[in-house]
Amino acid sequence: MAAFSLHGDLVWTEEIGAFRTLEDGYLIVEDGRIKGISKHRPDMDIIDMAGRLVIPGLSDLHLHAPQYSFAGLYMDEELLEWLDRHTFPEEAKFSSLEYADKAYTLFAEDLLSSATTRFSAFGTIHVDATLLLMRKLEEAGLSGYAGKVNMDRNSPPFLSETEEDSVSGTRRFIDAASSFTLVRPIITPRFIPSCTDGLLERLGVMAAEGGIPVQSHLDENLSEIEWVRSLCPWASSYAAAYDRFGLLGTTPTIMAHSVWLGDDEMDLLRKRGVFVAHSPSSNTNLSSGIAPVRKMLERGINVGLATDVAGGSSLSMLRMICEAVAASKLRWRLIDEEDRPISFPEAFYLASKGGGAFFGRTGSFEPGYDADIVVLDDCGCRTPLRAGLGPAERLELYAYRHPDDPVKAKFVKGRRVL
Ligand code: GUN
Ligand code: FE
Repeated sequence: MAAFSLHGDLVWTEEIGAFRTLEDGYLIVEDGRIKGISKHRPDMDIIDMAGRLVIPGLSDLHLHAPQYSFAGLYMDEELLEWLDRHTFPEEAKFSSLEYADKAYTLFAEDLLSSATTRFSAFGTIHVDATLLLMRKLEEAGLSGYAGKVNMDRNSPPFLSETEEDSVSGTRRFIDAASSFTLVRPIITPRFIPSCTDGLLERLGVMAAEGGIPVQSHLDENLSEIEWVRSLCPWASSYAAAYDRFGLLGTTPTIMAHSVWLGDDEMDLLRKRGVFVAHSPSSNTNLSSGIAPVRKMLERGINVGLATDVAGGSSLSMLRMICEAVAASKLRWRLIDEEDRPISFPEAFYLASKGGGAFFGRTGSFEPGYDADIVVLDDCGCRTPLRAGLGPAERLELYAYRHPDDPVKAKFVKGRRVL
């Protein structure tokens, strides 16, 4: 792959909480990786983005592709009612490949124009529709994971599988997904209430044997947690229930939410190297609560940010950065005065290098990182202050004022996709 250099105002984080910037600088890319940065014009092909913000691609650690159809609707219920009344009926429509094609085309187009370069997405229980989702994302040039969802209990008849069908469908999904390179399969038990012990056990074995990562939901909502307690009286916690089936960090694992983690669960997540997908927008919309992000970071747990569409209404990870900051302030003020708020540069780190670590080396401009790059045009941020602002302040202004604007250009592993 050819080498090139991107000219613009660079902003990134290498350590949590501290922006690095290079105004009017050059980001040098070779063989799909970051080679370095330079203040001086290098002797190579230049892509000129002068005056624009150049940031690392962001990682959305948890979202539901089929739910994008109703993003922005049905925000007046808590999780379990919301699933029954709106989510399950919509997901059932993806038994039709014609419907899935329409919905996933829009999803892939909108994800492409966002600042997200890496993702971990839920599909539905339908194997062929989820393979179609993978193909759309692969064709868009985006990279990440997508999972066929497993559901064999407490699910409506129109969105349910037998244990056997769920296992054989997952096997077929993983085999067929080997034809993709940018988008990889991930084992996706919806959550404990949706999966029998027998199914969870077999999914754990499949993950371990194939070295396949796992994603699910953990400790999101109080009624959900109570339900898990009654379904798994043998487990000391919700996290321990996943652990018993080898679904907590045996292979790389993402657990969404983790709003109500107990002390023992925090220890277990850290020990198992689990990534928590903090979803502040969804947690507000579904009245789930506010996750203890500061505490998780202090305990050494891996944390990334996520939209959890359609719990979150927007695909914008820039918006998620701002919402993570806002939610942490409310937690500090109203819930736990020891849980200090997280700052904008801290939240940016979680959305870039922090969550990006799940995918390997992405989310920073350090040498050797994948060249996942996003260019933002912040000319629309109208304020007389603008001329005096540095790149990091301009990024903050842009994220708060224009989080949903389409990005100007985007590169994944060095390849321009937009
Ligand atoms: N828990 C189980 N399924 C879901 C889902 O689709 N969205 C959210 N936010 N939580 C869940
Ligand atoms: Fe979710």
